[in-house]
Amino acid sequence: MVMATLPRKSLFVTTTYWVISRNSMAKLTSLVNTTRGVNVTSKLRSFIPFINSKEKKQWELTNSNFHHNIAAFRCVGLQKFETMNVLKRIWRSTLGKKYIMALSGLALVVFVIGHMVGNLQFFLGPEPLNRYAHFLQSNVELLWPVRIVLLSLAVLHVVSAISLWRENRAARPVDYEHEHPPYGADWASRMMLVGGLSVGCFLVYHLLHYTLKVEAINFSAGNFRTDVFKDSAGHPDVYAMMVAGFSQPLACLFYFAGVGFLCIHLSHGIAAMFQSLGFVNQVYRPIIEKGAKIVAVALCVGYLAIPSAVLLGCGREYLAKKQGQQSTSIALKENRK
Ligand code: HEM
Repeated sequence: MVMATLPRKSLFVTTTYWVISRNSMAKLTSLVNTTRGVNVTSKLRSFIPFINSKEKKQWELTNSNFHHNIAAFRCVGLQKFETMNVLKRIWRSTLGKKYIMALSGLALVVFVIGHMVGNLQFFLGPEPLNRYAHFLQSNVELLWPVRIVLLSLAVLHVVSAISLWRENRAARPVDYEHEHPPYGADWASRMMLVGGLSVGCFLVYHLLHYTLKVEAINFSAGNFRTDVFKDSAGHPDVYAMMVAGFSQPLACLFYFAGVGFLCIHLSHGIAAMFQSLGFVNQVYRPIIEKGAKIVAVALCVGYLAIPSAVLLGCGREYLAKKQGQQSTSIALKENRK
């Protein structure tokens, strides 16, 4: 209605004036801000959490009419700011790091128990073990996410352990004077860092041995990538791999040492995990400590049962039969040539 009653010329003048004034206002704000040493572009960044909050407040005051346009962005920015702050605070506090160690340790213990139960299928014979191994290997959608999560947890666990150890050293640079260990610190607990790092070294050896199948560290057990270590469907014959691997006493020695370190680590680590998560009191403490030792011993027995059984002759017949078949088929192929 208003527009219809206005003469054309006056409508043109009004619109032009409006556009010019908006532009000049924007330019003016920018100019004023720049001359005050306050650059608008950099100020917009103040909504991203890493600019300091005093600067942000000042900008908000001088640009209060801008608020509505960027309210949503600011909301997201502040939420990010809060989340980052919480994560930083957790990481910077000793208690937070203990929580990270406890929760990552818990997940790794669950994996170690699961892996042992899976491996014990060795005693059911080649077919069940190979079927289980093939099921894990062929589920790529499950395998890789699990591998990535496990690796991240292991890194988090080690990094927070080293960081806590350094904080402890910084707080008490001189060792205790008395010869006896401090109250509550038994041998396993004082071995935690060294033991944990030894488990890490064993794990690297173990992955090179069975997962990456590096022949150089195999102590003449044969190349795990050849047909002897494949089943009739061409899938890895994990049973034959285990028998060949543990037929080498030196490889067994690595496993005995690595699993030994793991169990010493867990005999204290499981109890420490409950303590960090706040489940320990005078009543539960002895139960938890005893329970941790029982789990550690059970894992030790379970894992070492396989190399021990192979050293005692278990599975040798199966491997010899496969090796015999393999050499016969090679001889036949050569005769045909
Ligand atoms: C005698 C003891 C053990 C045996 C016989 C054994 C056997 C195996 C085998 C055969 C594989 C390869 C599976 C495949 O590629 O199909 C494997 C992988 C693995 N093992 Fe063990 N293991 C033993 C102890 C351990 C221990 C104590 C740990 C942990 C501290 C461990 C952690 C792993 C991990 C992380 C993998 C890689 C899984 C993957 O491929 O993503 N193992 N193990």
